[in-house]
Amino acid sequence: MQALLIDILSDTPRTDEIARPQNLLAAMRHGSLNGGKRLRPFLVAESARLLGGDPKAALRVGAALECIHCYSLIHDDLPAMDDDDIRRGQPTVHKAFDEATAILAGDSLLTYAFDIIAAPETTLPDRNKTELVLALARAAGAGGMAGGQALDLQAERQAPDEAGIVTLQAMKTGALLRFACEAGAIIAGSSKQDRERLRLFGQKIGLAFQLADDVLDITSDAATMGKATGKDAGRGKGTLVALNGMEWAEKRLEELTTEAVDLLAPYGAAAQTLQQAARFVANRQN
Ligand code: IPE
Ligand code: IPE
Ligand code: MG
Ligand code: MG
Ligand code: MG
Repeated sequence: MQALLIDILSDTPRTDEIARPQNLLAAMRHGSLNGGKRLRPFLVAESARLLGGDPKAALRVGAALECIHCYSLIHDDLPAMDDDDIRRGQPTVHKAFDEATAILAGDSLLTYAFDIIAAPETTLPDRNKTELVLALARAAGAGGMAGGQALDLQAERQAPDEAGIVTLQAMKTGALLRFACEAGAIIAGSSKQDRERLRLFGQKIGLAFQLADDVLDITSDAATMGKATGKDAGRGKGTLVALNGMEWAEKRLEELTTEAVDLLAPYGAAAQTLQQAARFVANRQN
């Protein structure tokens, strides 16, 4: 994954590119090669493996998804959004470079995601590629992650009810995680039933992931997380933890994990790694 991203984000222009501004590429590398957990590409790889998809194609789709995730973090940290100085234990992109460069680095990472999937090096039938592009666009766009970020900012001004929080979290965080799991089925050209099962699995762990993030924002510290904590309460952010309390959140995390694990029971032992990933999402420490 790292080697692939380093190659994709090199200073050398590709066919039909005119030139690559070094400072912009450096900012893109800063925002994407800086030690994230790589959970989303891991889920793409494992869901593809489970269903017999090509591992090389899965790696490239995982890299595409990680580019979108990293762009979302670069923009999420901007002063106009969460205004954060530290990400993954390092200065955020707008701190290490400047705001305009951070915005453009995000734009460029987002665009590259679709380049990576469409490029001939992703050796999948065109039909599968089109499905991946469509599903990723919908997961990342106004009806998915970006829309969820908009609702999240709105929620700082007017606290949503529980259903509103679930929707915004399913969008801002859940949509990309859901895509990560569903992508394996698309890469493998799986049946509708398999695709739906993986999609539901991704949906569950997406909800669990943001719930755990909101718990950790209260219980963890910046050194462990590599990013500021205690931010949500400070910003009056409507989270499920703020609404229902910590005990409820711990119970809900367990429920979501059990539901996710059970969904993959039909695959038997082959699904163990994904099931472990579901447990990791709920119990993670950073
Ligand atoms: C952080 O995601 C942003 C949220 C969706 C809560 P991750 O915790 O996966 O971030 P990295 O990639 O490991 O830094
Ligand atoms: C961000 O949620 C989710 C996305 C970047 C889409 P948060 O704002 O809670 O993420 P952190 O806590 O900054 O990682
Ligand atoms: Mg945010
Ligand atoms: Mg944030
Ligand atoms: Mg957070």
